[in-house]
Amino acid sequence: MLNSLFRKKPLESTIEDARHGGDGHGSELRKVLGVRDLTSMGIAAVIGAGIFSTIGQAAYNGGPGVIFLFIITAITCGFTALCYAEFASRIPVAGSAYTYSYVTFGEVTAWIIGWALILEYGIGNVVVSISWSSYFVNLLEGLGLHLPPWLATDPETAHQAFLRAQEAGETTIGMAWTTAPTIIGFKFIANLPAALIILIITILAYIGIKESKKSANFMVALKLVVLAIIVIIGLFYIDTDNWTPFLPNGFSGVLKGVSAVFFAYIGFDAISTTAEECANPQRDMPKGMIYSLIICTLIYVVVTLVITGMVHYGEFNNVSDPLAYVFEKINLSKVGFFISVSAVVAATSVLLVFQIGQPRIWMSMSRDGLLPGRFASIHPKHHTPAFSTIITGIIVGIPSLFVESALMTDLTSIGTLFAFVLVCGGVLVLPKESNPGVKRFRLPYINGQFIIPVLLIIFLYSFQDRISDAALNLSHDSRQELLFLIFIGIAIAIAVVTFIKKFSLIPVLGMLCCLYLMIEIPARSWVVFFGWMAFGLVIYFSYGYWKSRLAVRRI
Ligand code: ALA
Repeated sequence: MLNSLFRKKPLESTIEDARHGGDGHGSELRKVLGVRDLTSMGIAAVIGAGIFSTIGQAAYNGGPGVIFLFIITAITCGFTALCYAEFASRIPVAGSAYTYSYVTFGEVTAWIIGWALILEYGIGNVVVSISWSSYFVNLLEGLGLHLPPWLATDPETAHQAFLRAQEAGETTIGMAWTTAPTIIGFKFIANLPAALIILIITILAYIGIKESKKSANFMVALKLVVLAIIVIIGLFYIDTDNWTPFLPNGFSGVLKGVSAVFFAYIGFDAISTTAEECANPQRDMPKGMIYSLIICTLIYVVVTLVITGMVHYGEFNNVSDPLAYVFEKINLSKVGFFISVSAVVAATSVLLVFQIGQPRIWMSMSRDGLLPGRFASIHPKHHTPAFSTIITGIIVGIPSLFVESALMTDLTSIGTLFAFVLVCGGVLVLPKESNPGVKRFRLPYINGQFIIPVLLIIFLYSFQDRISDAALNLSHDSRQELLFLIFIGIAIAIAVVTFIKKFSLIPVLGMLCCLYLMIEIPARSWVVFFGWMAFGLVIYFSYGYWKSRLAVRRI
């Protein structure tokens, strides 16, 4: 049983399967993507709801020094991107972290990763569609068009807003909760624009990668131009006094924004799901990932400096549209409208890339027999995974009507970081190259034997107060601190193994940084995460375990 659970897919057959469609159905996807398209796709997936919304609270907590957080997160993502690049150039097939862990860790881990990636792509898109909807409603308001409030939010958010207004003694007339129609005893409240944009994006993804590529390139160009204009206008309104103090709440204030900032970086890995549509994946995929990460980091840092220079960081508390807000503060509301247009475009391109990525992961899982064959079927005319694309539309579109975004954001981040940890770990156990002469990207080897233990000792020394507090407070039901202690235990174990096995520095650092970010996410979201993963395992043991192509081959 244990052997079957960890049966691994041979590297060569993984590449061969992708060429022939795994089950022999033939799946040649169009090979149309080059470095520029991939970089553009990375930017399309990364710059979206995150920078247009989360940057405000992060700047409030950390002050202008939050730029350090963007840089730290970028470095963490950079380690992971290099590991992704190593995989993508060794295994140039669609499927992302799922495919990589099938080759390195075996089937059950691959399934777990594939299941976690639904959180990144599917649930991530639920969050982005909700953000898209709120900017879109703003735009409509700017044009004098008003949607009924109960058609532009979810029931929980509407209820909370109603309770807050009641508590504050404010009027509740005209609120979503009070105006919503009641159907069989329930208030009907739904986020219609969020579901509609998912429908449109699904149609685009269904029609084809070439068309989607064109739209992504166009949207990326547009949002970069708009962000550049924001920066250029903003430069004239910077008051350098606002940058003092640069770190008003020290480094702990900066670290409060960790998960929000991480969400803003999610997406660069989505490039790896299109490996089969690349003209030259070995050469172009790593470049695409690294270039998009560098460009996004530069943009985030510059935008953060500009907005914290224009408005004092202390004014960003609970500001969910900071980029529009700073221009309203300086009486340039027309620019605010322009920014809402840009936010809608930015979120649209994120939606498109994720909505293309998810079906390709299912396609790979189906080729391996872990999902029914229909998930791998390719549309004869459009050359896209048609059935998977429709299912993705349904699983993203329906929740986007009714769910609240905060928990979904946490789940997206945990699922993504989990995948990142396994990708970094996977590089360490990749089988030896069968053909080392081939020209391709290679992750540089730096011996981590001494560096990792030294870095860990510095970390333990700097966090000694938190460690002793966590150990003392364990009995007081502090699940967050329990997570922290578990992290310390895992980090020590990784350092010992690195010392013994002389592991490569970059993947080990990638694993440790991602694990650390994970444990900073609220413990209540971890409970939901475990529930989701348990549900996934039930499905695996009811279907994939028996139908896996590796299982069938053995019979
Ligand atoms: N990084 C993506 C965004 O900010 C998910 O919307």
